[in-house]
Amino acid sequence: MAPLGLYELRRMLADGLPAQLRRPLEFLFDGRLEPAERQVVDGVERIREAVARDPRGFRVVNRDGVVHPLTASQVAHRASINREWGTFLHLCSRSFGARTILELGGCAGISGCYLTASERCERFVTVEGSAELAALAAENLGRLSDRAEVVNSLFDDALDRLLPTFRDGIGLAYLDGHHKYEATLHYLERLEPYLGGGALVVFDDIRLSRGMWKAWRTVEGREGFAATVDAGRFGLAVWAGSTTTPVSHDLSLPLGFLRGVYTG
Ligand SMILES: C[S@@+](CC[C@H](N)C(=O)[O-])C[C@H]1O[C@@H](n2cnc3c(N)ncnc32)[C@H](O)[C@@H]1O
Repeated sequence: MAPLGLYELRRMLADGLPAQLRRPLEFLFDGRLEPAERQVVDGVERIREAVARDPRGFRVVNRDGVVHPLTASQVAHRASINREWGTFLHLCSRSFGARTILELGGCAGISGCYLTASERCERFVTVEGSAELAALAAENLGRLSDRAEVVNSLFDDALDRLLPTFRDGIGLAYLDGHHKYEATLHYLERLEPYLGGGALVVFDDIRLSRGMWKAWRTVEGREGFAATVDAGRFGLAVWAGSTTTPVSHDLSLPLGFLRGVYTG
């Protein structure tokens, strides 16, 4: 599917897809990385392996707001972003030159490590409801960056305090927790007034459930975005901050996903 995907991507770029998405999306098809990027990936993956070996158990907040236990290996390999999509996040962070990044759903800090390891990132904040995971995320992020902050709180409570501190606008937002229709749109509504022009919003697991798919379909038609891309696992939306309605692009099929088919 890679040649078809690259062909589709070039067509979308020619049709006005924001150029910053070219390199991260190409990576999903050709897997190519520069040596410095590979070094970042290897460094984050070493952190993941250390998490998997941790003898402790952890508690996470699931999409229904219920706390439930996971082993360290489940935290590292199931709850955290995998290598491929983590690398994609890193490439987005670099390509968009995001100076400020906000993540909802910190877990052990693996996606945070990928996002914050860009030389352009000046401030990375992640919110995590589980105290022990927040502590682990802070430890892991601290190995790569002194610009990372972990807030141990429920998302809504953290946003009350955090959002006004993003005075120059958020450059990249990653929504990876509380995967429900109402919750996803609620957090987006809260973030929108603080998004900088050209900001990237990444929605994880848009095919997790009927509700998440419905939330993504809403984003695809939402005023204020310039462009959206259905990238299979992720929904990508580029903020215009004006009254435009987005041009919606679909790369799901060449990436191995079906449109409208969700898993849970
Ligand atoms: C899928 S995991 C995040 C994985 C992480 N982004 C990564 O890839 O490394 C979702 C996390 O969000 C947290 N979470 C879910 N709902 C939350 C809420 N309403 N407030 C705070 N944390 C929440 C969970 O405890 C869990 O650690």
